[in-house]
Amino acid sequence: MNISIQDLNKVYPNGNHALKDVNIEINEGMFGLLGPNGAGKSSLMRILVTLMKPSSGRVLVNGKDTAKHRDYVRSMLGYLPQDFSFFSNLKTYEFLDYAARLSGMSSGKKRRAAVDKMLEEVALFDVRNRKAGKLSGGMKRRLGIAQALINDPKIVIVDEPTTGLDPEERIRFRNLLARISSQDVIIILSTHIVADISSTCEHMALLNRGQVAFTGSPEEIIRQAEGHVWSLYVDEKEYVEVNQKYQVIATVMQKDGWKVTVVGDEVLGYDAEPVSPNLEHAYVYFVEHTLKNRILV
Ligand SMILES: Nc1ncnc2c1ncn2[C@@H]1O[C@H](COP(=O)(O)OP(=O)(O)OP(=O)(O)O)[C@@H](O)[C@H]1O
Ligand SMILES: [Mg+2]
Repeated sequence: MNISIQDLNKVYPNGNHALKDVNIEINEGMFGLLGPNGAGKSSLMRILVTLMKPSSGRVLVNGKDTAKHRDYVRSMLGYLPQDFSFFSNLKTYEFLDYAARLSGMSSGKKRRAAVDKMLEEVALFDVRNRKAGKLSGGMKRRLGIAQALINDPKIVIVDEPTTGLDPEERIRFRNLLARISSQDVIIILSTHIVADISSTCEHMALLNRGQVAFTGSPEEIIRQAEGHVWSLYVDEKEYVEVNQKYQVIATVMQKDGWKVTVVGDEVLGYDAEPVSPNLEHAYVYFVEHTLKNRILV
C-alpha cells in the first residue's frame, strides 16, 4: 500500500490557498498529520478521500490516480470526518448497521456479525441499544471510528479524532487505531495534539499554512530542532523582553526570577543554555520557522 501526494494545490473559490505544492509519500502503518488550526489538514484529507478535487497536482494510490479511479479508492477507504455527526434517532447498533449497508455489505447475516464484532472492538456493545445521539462525547467518537472501520478498509483516514476527549479516552482511541494498524493498512491521523503523534506514529508530516514544513519520523524532527531550544534565567523586566523577542514555550517560577524555555535559532544577550528538544518544542520551532520563511518570500 502506498499513497503518493504530488504537487497538490487547493485554492477555494473565495481565494483561500489552503494547500501549496504539497508532496508527501505515505506507506503502511500509522501516519500522523500534524498542524495548527487552519494548516490545511482537513482540506488534504477531503482530497485524499475523493470528496473534493485539488486545484492542481494529483494523488496516487498504489500508483493509480485517484481522479481517474475513484471507485477503486473508495472501495478501500474508511473515513472519519472532523465534523462527524449522527442520525440521532438511530440506536447505536442500527447506526452501525446502516453504515455497513452503505459500504456495500448486503447480506443481513454477515452484517449483524460484523456489527456485533465491531461494537465489541470499540467497547460499545453494552450501549448498543442506546440512541447514538445520547452517547457521551468519547463514545460518539468511538462510534465514528467504528463506522469507518466496519468494511475492513485498507486506508483509514481520521480527522482530529481525539479533540475534546479526556486523556483516558484519548489513550483508548489511540490504542484502538494502533491495533488495527497492520502490515497492509495505512492509517492517517490528523491532529494538533503532539502527544497523539509521538506515542503512535512512526511517520509524520507537519503542515503549516498549507505548506509541508517537515516530513519524516518524530525522532527526525526532534533531531532537526536540536540547537534551537534554549533555557534561560530571567528577572521580571527581562521576562517581558524575552517574551517579545522569542517564542516562549515554558515558564517555571524560581526563587529570584523565572526559568524560561524558548525556541529560536540563537538567543543573544542572555545566559542561555541549549536544551534537548522534545516533539512539542520541535513542533513550535518548525511552525515558527516556516512562518518566517513565508514572510521573507
Ligand atoms: N470551504 C472552504 N472555503 C474557503 N476556505 C476554506 C474552506 N475550508 C477551509 N478553508 C480555509 O482553508 C484553510 C485550511 O483549512 P482546513 O480546514 O483544511 O485546516 P485544518 O488544518 O483542518 O484546521 P483545523 O485544525 O482548524 O481543523 C483555512 O484557512 C480555512 O479557513
Ligand atoms: Mg481540520
